[in-house]
Amino acid sequence: MKLTFSKGTLTTIKADSIIVLTFSDEKLLKETAQKLDKVLNGQVSTIISAGDFKGKEKEIAVLYPSNSNLKAKRIILVGIGERDKINLEKIRRSVAVASKKAQSLKSETIAIEFPDYSLLKDKINETLDYIAQAIAEGSVLALYKFDKYLTDEERKNRKVKEVILFVEKDSKEIKEGVRVADIVCSAVYFARDLANAPANEIYPETLAKAAVNSGKKYGFKVKVLGKPEIEKLGMGGLLGVNSGSAKPPRFIIMEYNGNPRSKERYVIVGKGITFDSGGISLKPAQGMDEMKMDMSGAAAVIATMEAVARLELPVNLVGLVPATENMPGGSAYKPGDILKTYSGKTIEVDNTDAEGRIILADALGYAQKYNPTAIIDLATLTGACVVALGYFATGMFGNDEKLMEEIKKAGEKTYERVWQLPTWEEYDQLIKSDVADVKNTGGRWAGAITAAKFLEKFVGNYPWVHLDIAGTAMLDKEYDYQPKGGSGVGVRLLVEFFRNKAQKK
Ligand code: BES
Ligand code: MN
Ligand code: ZN
Repeated sequence: MKLTFSKGTLTTIKADSIIVLTFSDEKLLKETAQKLDKVLNGQVSTIISAGDFKGKEKEIAVLYPSNSNLKAKRIILVGIGERDKINLEKIRRSVAVASKKAQSLKSETIAIEFPDYSLLKDKINETLDYIAQAIAEGSVLALYKFDKYLTDEERKNRKVKEVILFVEKDSKEIKEGVRVADIVCSAVYFARDLANAPANEIYPETLAKAAVNSGKKYGFKVKVLGKPEIEKLGMGGLLGVNSGSAKPPRFIIMEYNGNPRSKERYVIVGKGITFDSGGISLKPAQGMDEMKMDMSGAAAVIATMEAVARLELPVNLVGLVPATENMPGGSAYKPGDILKTYSGKTIEVDNTDAEGRIILADALGYAQKYNPTAIIDLATLTGACVVALGYFATGMFGNDEKLMEEIKKAGEKTYERVWQLPTWEEYDQLIKSDVADVKNTGGRWAGAITAAKFLEKFVGNYPWVHLDIAGTAMLDKEYDYQPKGGSGVGVRLLVEFFRNKAQKK
């Protein structure tokens, strides 16, 4: 799908659908009506006076031109509510709902009129280019569909070929917002595609291939370690989890050096369990299919590498992905096993379904070799995190308040929001082992926290943040600009975080 900027007006833009945003305030709604009435023969005033359209958030009216000079088939008018209460997320969502309406009407081109900036700028504390980025993202992210396995053309409703953001005067800022949105959205699509792909398509070898291809295309280095090299490095955690699978593991190392003169270097780590059956501590059948998305952290990391490289951000970034299935084969690791990790620390396996933290132990140990400025890991780590926060917040844990504050800020801006949970030392006793350095479960309570405490043992003294995306990465149903299934969460958050890092140079 193409995302472009165009200079134009309601009457000059050619598109199947034009989306026009309007506030609900009486005076502003009236102004919208006056503007549209000219090209729609008074229809908008008519529907407003009939009480059929009020401009409330996500409220929609589809209007058809009758003998007017419009080059578009229809105008989709969408409300964004009261001006006093406007924020970026309301705009994203309204644009999303209108875009899906246009898609359902089989539009191939959708043009969105950029709203009057003078009415936004005192209410939304963001730059013009970021507002443009948010509008474009609201549309493109909403139009995603995982339809590559559908053979019935009618059911493939991804008909939209182009989304155009237009405004009367040329605007460098809006153009820039559209450029960034295009890269970010295509990275989010990439992450969603990887997550939604079934486990018979995406397994360690093919996940690594996807990273290699992206690196080749967009200019970052990718090195893939196979089983013999993983053995040589002594990654007993990754090998232990892998032992029940017929498919060998991979350890994916990605590097992007956008600022060679700087000594700062960030390492991002993603959990890459391409299918989590639970292993010998087998999961119940119901819902097990969702565990094809247990590599959503890995997907976010690979897609973020892609976006950061395409944006040519002046930061140094390493992406690490330990990848394996978690299967209950005859040679599978078992409860009671003790594994020796890359760092030398030992793990008592209490439950083979707490496998994510085990493979992350190796990756976090490996991360230290880069002497990182900070380590950020993303993982669909615990059901307990979903119980605590549901689908609307990523659980955040860490050892560095400043770093967490920066991630929180990026989360609020992108609306990939995070919520901090404690990592107090009292929780340590829950993962004490009698026979190894640490145990991989912490009992019934505070499951998301004990998982984070486990990871903390493997990050050394480096600033570190752990993001538990178990709830936010895989959605139970469709939301405004998020489809059911893989959400691609983490990509927009991390890109925003690294853009802020770049600006501080
Ligand atoms: N991948 C799961 C966590 C998960 C659950 C992600 C639901 C998304 C939705 C993880 O590997 C797991 O199985 N965790 C266990 C840990 C337990 C055995 C200590 C869990 O949360 O039940
Ligand atoms: Mn598991
Ligand atoms: Zn898992």
